[in-house]
This record gives sequence, structure tokens and C-alpha cells, in this order.
Amino acid sequence: MRLIISMLVAVAVSCSIGITSLAADEGKKPPITTASPFKPVLGEKGMVVSQEKYASMAGRDVLKAGGNAVDAAVATGFALAVTHPQAGNIGGGGFMLVYLAAEKRTIALDYREMAPAAAHKDLFLDADGNVDSQRALFSAMSSGVPGTVMGLLEAHSRYGRLSRAEVMAPAIRLAAEGFPMTWALHDALIRYEDRMKADAASSHYFYKADGSLYQPGELFVQKDLATTLKRIARKGANGFYKGTTADHLVAAMQAGGGIITHADLAAYRVRERTPVSGTYDEYQVVSMPPPSSGGIHIIQMLNILEDYDLKEMGHNSADYIHLLAESMKRAYADRSKFLGDPDFIDVPVDVLTSKSYAAALRGSINTGKATASADILPGAAMPKESRDTTHFSVMDSEGNAVSNTYTVNLIFGSGKSVAGAGFLLNNEMDDFSSKPGVPNVFGLVGGAANAIEAGKRPLSSMTPTLVLKDGIPVIASGSPGGSTIITATFQTVLNILEFDMNPAEATAMPRIHHQWLPDNLFFEPGISIDTIRLLKARGQPISGKPFWSGNHTLGKTQTIVRRPDGLFAGAADPRGPGSYAAAY
Ligand code: DON
Repeated sequence: MRLIISMLVAVAVSCSIGITSLAADEGKKPPITTASPFKPVLGEKGMVVSQEKYASMAGRDVLKAGGNAVDAAVATGFALAVTHPQAGNIGGGGFMLVYLAAEKRTIALDYREMAPAAAHKDLFLDADGNVDSQRALFSAMSSGVPGTVMGLLEAHSRYGRLSRAEVMAPAIRLAAEGFPMTWALHDALIRYEDRMKADAASSHYFYKADGSLYQPGELFVQKDLATTLKRIARKGANGFYKGTTADHLVAAMQAGGGIITHADLAAYRVRERTPVSGTYDEYQVVSMPPPSSGGIHIIQMLNILEDYDLKEMGHNSADYIHLLAESMKRAYADRSKFLGDPDFIDVPVDVLTSKSYAAALRGSINTGKATASADILPGAAMPKESRDTTHFSVMDSEGNAVSNTYTVNLIFGSGKSVAGAGFLLNNEMDDFSSKPGVPNVFGLVGGAANAIEAGKRPLSSMTPTLVLKDGIPVIASGSPGGSTIITATFQTVLNILEFDMNPAEATAMPRIHHQWLPDNLFFEPGISIDTIRLLKARGQPISGKPFWSGNHTLGKTQTIVRRPDGLFAGAADPRGPGSYAAAY
């Protein structure tokens, strides 16, 4: 345990130094997420936890102004589009779970991007029939029709209390008046400089006229983005999907060889879906249904594990990690075959989330020996790529809760901005399976169920989750991390439910990940060497090396726990520089 603590403290300290207010010198140094990675931030009246401080504060201020959790979530979502453009967005899409205390029900809003009408299953195949991943990821064709603006506005108009102007005001102010360049954004703009500068509009919006960087703490103003946000505040969804913003977006498509049209934008719709739901002991776990795979698989893995005495094995022991890995493999194998957009295919949700199916899968697990992925279904390799998406959680004193994950897919999406409108576009089309069995950027394989089709939504791993006890939301959590989203969220929730950890401890614990293909168990620093030896002896292939460049972490959960004493305990993940829990 001492080893774990010292390694985690090292991770936390290496990306940290404190900021406490919106002072002019903010952002100059890497921020401290929390005073201790093992102590949550406590709030009496509400809590907003997101990956960026100004955005969390925007949500908290909206709660203070009398808004409910949905108002605060919408304010946070728009603010992240300004202050955390690595993943916060109006050019992408996502999923929002809302628990409405007054109605005692959870709503799942699907505002995932949609394939444009001109898309088809061979969109990204070259003349030889191979997947052209450059076109799938970094071209004007990489973008699905964005859903974020309609998603946030629909959540607000249905369930919010304050006016649209009030919830959008913080984002507009942050864009129009600027904010001190954060360490995290500055750092990302260095790491992805080539990709961003390859696009004239992104270069113009995110770097100075001479091409140099905004230094941490320097005021960063986004005038065109402010104008777009003001238009949305005035006109609602029409301020994005029609008129000037739409004209800019379609012009960017035409200039870059993209296929999104005015008709695609006008046809975009948010879908309300029935959340997936399962139980773990006395808790009800509610999560995102297809076109996310996250909810189904988190419930499936909890169902598999429910019958083992995990406490007895000990947290992150070899016995425990072996079982996690075996459950993960089986869930991700199913993902590759059965999951896709439910508007196009029948997903066997009830079977996949049933206790009886989990029992059958449990029966196939040998506690002393790893099942090779090749014996579950055929294999493929995982490429290296960096990633970004972002999650935020909100709870208010009325018992409402929001768990929201949204994304432009990779960090800064396709890297292409809409000239004149000031925002980046997603590269979500890569989440489709461009060719059966060929892995996407996250190494995930798929087939017909997730093939590209006009109007279809690509399969996602985003897992915004709520856990209820006696009908009251007690946990809100979720994560970025591509294919690792599901397993990161799963372990954070399991740490709380099974091991009685507070949310900060549950977040700080080292995580593992297996996604069936490649057949490899990934782990964060902090799993002891003897445990790794024991796992290897059982036949778990462990590379010992993280599978993407740049960092050694798995996911970044943003979690709130409503404690039995009524206090809100917020845990921003120290793996994400700038993550912040804003208490009210
Ligand atoms: O929807 C998905 O599953 C992916 N587009 C998420 C991408 C992601 O999480 C990248 N970042 N961390």
C-alpha cells in the first residue's frame, strides 16, 4: 500500500501547483486537483466536478444563483467548450443522464453525432479496400453531425429552471473576455501543435498571429466562438443548426472535402433513450444505453463479479485483478459483435445485462487460469494514439443529479476548426467500424452492427453512470479514455460499492484494463510486482507498458458521492491536470 500511495502522490504532484481563484496569474503552473488525492471535497448544497476549474466554477455559480443540477450541467458543458477545447465542445456530441428527483426517474439523452446522409459503409476504404485512417481521423470527412448544442439545449429546456441566457452567460464571458490560458490547454497545444497548425483556422484560433503559443496565465480570448455562443443563446438550436453558424460549418466542409450539408444539420435530433439498469447488492446502477456500449458492459461486468467474495480477495490483489480482467474480456468480446446504434440494429440489451447471462459467463471463468482472448473470438492488434473526451458530474440539494460525458473523440477532434465560427470539429466517424475486424484508433474491432450508414450514430464507450440507493442517487461518475472509459468507470464505482472507499480514494487507486483484443492486461503504476508475477503465472499476458504515448494512466473519472449524512463528496481525478471539484 505504501508503494501505491507514494506512486500516486508522485503522479499527483507532477501535475500540480495550486490555483484558488480567477486571478490574472492563474494557469501559470500545473494545477493541484485536490489537497490530498485521498480526501474528497465536501459540499453542503451541491457539487460540480469537471476536468477544468473555470467550467466547474461556472456550474457551481449557476447552482448558487438558484439553478438546479441540469442548469449547472448545461453551464458547465458550454464553459468546457471554451476552456477545455481538447474535449469540451460544441462541435462534438455526447450523452447525458439526468435523475429528476421530483419525478423519481432517470432520463438518458443521446446527443451523439450522426453520420451525414452521404456517408456509406466504405467511406474510409481506399482503392485497395484498406482503411484510410488519416481520412477517418484527420480530414473534413472525419466529422459526424454535431449533437452537443441540441443536447445541452434540450436538457436545459426540458429540465432546467433558469433562462438560456443565464446558463450560457459564463461560457460567453469566458470566450468574449477571455480567461488566463491554463497549463493543461497550453501543454496540449504544444503536444498537438503539428495537427492543429495543419489547419489554418485552428492555427488562427489557438496560436498567436506569429504562430507562438499563449503562455500559461496569458489572457486567451475567443471572439468568433463568443459570437457563435451568443447566437445560440439568442436563437436556441437554430443559432447552430441553421443560419450563420450552419453556413460557416458547411463552408468549412466544402473547402475541405467534407460531406456534412445544411440538410444534415437541419435533420439532427437528440434522442431520449431508456437507460440501462442493473443491481449490485442493494444498489441500482443506471447507465447509458446504446449507441453507447458503456452502460451495458458496466452492468454485465458487475453482474459477473457480484457472486465472488471480492473483499476477501483484497483490493487489487492478483485474484481480484484476474477476475476483473476475465470479466472485461468477455464484455468487450460481446461489444464487438452485438453493439451499435439501436435505431439501425437490434441490440440484445436485456440478455447482455441479465443475471443469468452473467452467470453463464462466470461459469466460463477459470479463477486459476486466464482464458486466451483467441478462445473467446479472433484477435487483432492495437495501435498507439492519444485520446480525449471529458466527463462532468453534478448534484444539487433537491436530489437531482447529472452525469454527462461528451467528446470530439481524439484530443482537439479532427484538429479542424470551423472558420468564422470558432470551434473545433469532432472525428467521431472513426468510432464506426470502417471494415469488419479492422481495429479503430482505440484498437476496438467491430462488424456489421457498427458499420457506417447514413444517419447512424457510431458506437461509443462513453459511460455516464448514476448509482441509486433506495431510489436516491448516491454516485455520479464517468470518464474519458476511449476504450478504457468503461473499465475506469467500472473500477471507480466498484471501489466505492465493494470496498467502501470514499470517492477520492476510489479515484486514486491504480486501475487495470483489458478489452479482449489485444489480449493484454494493461495496468497503471502502483500494482505491485509480486501481483504482476502472480497474474503472469496464471497466463494473463501483461505488457507492463501502457499502450498509448504520452502518459501512464487509465481514464480520468469525475465523481460525486452523496453521503449518508447528506453531504456531497466530490473527487476530481488527479490524473487530469486542471480537474476540479467545485463545492457549494
Ligand atoms: O465515444 C467514444 O467511445 C469515443 N469517441 C471516446 C473518445 C475518448 O474517450 C477519447 N478520450 N479520452
